[in-house]
Amino acid sequence: MRKKVTVVGCGMVGGTTAQRLAERGYADIVMVDVVEDLARGKALDLAEAAPIVGYDCRITGGTVPQDYAMTAGSDVVVFTSGAPRKPGMSRDDLLLVNQKIVEDNVREIARHSPDCVLLMVNNPLDAMAQLAYKTSGFPRQRVVGQAGVLDTARFRTFLAQELNVSVESVNAYVLGGHGDDMVPLTSYTTVGGVPVSKLLPHDRLEAIVERTRKGGQEIVDLLKTGSAFQAPSAAVAQMVDAVILDKKQILPCAAYLDGEYGIADLFCGVPVKLGAAGVEEIVQIDLSAEEQAALQRTASSVRELVKKMGL
Ligand code: 2OP
Repeated sequence: MRKKVTVVGCGMVGGTTAQRLAERGYADIVMVDVVEDLARGKALDLAEAAPIVGYDCRITGGTVPQDYAMTAGSDVVVFTSGAPRKPGMSRDDLLLVNQKIVEDNVREIARHSPDCVLLMVNNPLDAMAQLAYKTSGFPRQRVVGQAGVLDTARFRTFLAQELNVSVESVNAYVLGGHGDDMVPLTSYTTVGGVPVSKLLPHDRLEAIVERTRKGGQEIVDLLKTGSAFQAPSAAVAQMVDAVILDKKQILPCAAYLDGEYGIADLFCGVPVKLGAAGVEEIVQIDLSAEEQAALQRTASSVRELVKKMGL
């Protein structure tokens, strides 16, 4: 049987994600949105591009709540629904607006696809992943959040630009919550195998770490009417690849921690092994005392948001 991926929410992130996934051709795509006919229109447009681009999968769209049945039997469901940030807003400002939307979406999706992997992209990311976990009642392996792949891509891009090297030569990890206190791990960042601290003065490296932390805000300020969608959708597609193709790829993702890294009953960005079963393993890497403290700080910020939602 063909694989099936559903994208909930068909704004810029959802639409671009559906396009990236359709172009991979490994699964049928279902797009749903609460706005009447929006997903149906985007899905039809995407299907009509197939003969030119050369992909061959079924792409359908529907309006929710009435069309949730279309999503039944999905292998992966990507949640991009909810309000995006506007200039002057933090991701955390979206908390209560998006809580209700995400709760409703997750409840219905879990009912129609009880065996799927839930991939959360809504902000504030880690809190929304916690909400999805609690609402779905799924095992923790099957709920994962996107942000570390995105934040790490931003960090790699800025380093590659600074050092005038290919982004492919930069290896890095950004852990922690998807907020201003995320934790770019400079000790695990290498360029062509050389530790980045040997290639850049401390103050330049710190400036790039800070730019990475504010990477989402930088795009919001430039776009003025919405937030980033190209890099976020590319990050989602890499994660969906890992699940659909059972790649067992180690990627920084928001995962439910049950004592790992000294954090319990909370989603936080850590390296995980992502495969067909979802989060197949939380990969534990050694952190310096400073990095461990930074991870605890970011976890406290996520915990505050979770408390505000009454979870
Ligand atoms: C970002 O960082 C939207 O949270 C997303 O761009």
